[in-house]
Amino acid sequence: MTDTTTPPAAAAAGPSPTAVTAWDDETSAAADATVGTATDEQFVDALPKVELHVHLEGSMLPGTVLALARRHGVEDIPTDEDALRAWYEFRDFNHFLAVYRTAVQVLRDEEDFALLARETALGLAAQNVRYAEMYFTPWIHTMRGVSPAEVFAGIERGRLEARAATGVEIRWIPDIPGGLPGVDILMVADRTVEYALTYGSDALIGLGIGGAEVGVPRPQFAPAFSAARDAGLRSVPHAGETTGARTVWDAIEYLGADRIGHGIRALEDSALIERLRTDAIPLDVNPTSNLRTGVVADYASHPLPKLIELGVPVSLNSDDPPMFGTTLREEYLHALRDLGLSRGSVARLAAAAVRHSFLDPDRKVELLTEQRIAIERLATPSA
Ligand code: ADE
Ligand code: ZN
Repeated sequence: MTDTTTPPAAAAAGPSPTAVTAWDDETSAAADATVGTATDEQFVDALPKVELHVHLEGSMLPGTVLALARRHGVEDIPTDEDALRAWYEFRDFNHFLAVYRTAVQVLRDEEDFALLARETALGLAAQNVRYAEMYFTPWIHTMRGVSPAEVFAGIERGRLEARAATGVEIRWIPDIPGGLPGVDILMVADRTVEYALTYGSDALIGLGIGGAEVGVPRPQFAPAFSAARDAGLRSVPHAGETTGARTVWDAIEYLGADRIGHGIRALEDSALIERLRTDAIPLDVNPTSNLRTGVVADYASHPLPKLIELGVPVSLNSDDPPMFGTTLREEYLHALRDLGLSRGSVARLAAAAVRHSFLDPDRKVELLTEQRIAIERLATPSA
């Protein structure tokens, strides 16, 4: 068995690139060695995982959507699971956004937000996800009359309850919803930052932009992101999901992006690929989401393997799992079965999620070590 006592990434001083590479090479080789000793499911389930791109509102379980719709008498929502599944067949990205904005109307009070956060976090814990950075969109609730205090108090209660029950850690990223019809998006950006700084707990870590990219240029959000960064928040906008490389450049140059949500269209610009590599700006990639919103045709043409080959820092994520009929666990299985990645490559993605997270260096070392131990146990089952 490989020596697991060597720290994979030295703590506060930062790891040397050689140490990171050696650790990942060895863990990856051990992962490849599990092919004869464990099934894909056993491999994925045993791996302690981190999720960097998942939306709270997009994580509502079908049963919860139906129950809350009934409880609050919300119209326009399907009334059984089959109809809900059919409702989640999206014609295109804009159709997805329209359904999303209708579905969130079932969330009415603090208790609903607590339930959603608790269920979502428990669902992640059940997949051996140890840590997640989770988007939520305060404005799509406050615009309907829910108070920001209720939204923030509810999600925080759910987070703490799930942590007490399972140890799973969640951090929050409020985001600005691009593309809402008839609203002043700069006012929404200001409100989002104001709510975050007024009501956010110590689990608040970043500011995002979600929703539409078309017609929502990123440079206009520079003041909001500057205020957020001054308050210690990280910059994690969606960009390059439905529009091209220019949006990713803008996210980097105007918003100081620490990571990019999706970013897959960066592939259209080799200079941008070079920038992401040299400045180590990671992309949070969500394959099934891209298929279900129609921005990528099928798994065979998904850009993730190409991005890996080019050395772009990437992680694997689920985005809005029940709406896309997936889970993080299933994204890992798709990576193995449908994207043609080896177990070694998937182990590197799992380690990358730890490294790209906003966790402190000591916790990163712990999680990387847990991943390696889990993989080595599978590779040498009798050990
Ligand atoms: N909000 C929820 N899911 C999203 C996605 N895939 N892109 C942009 N905004 C979102
Ligand atoms: Zn997203």
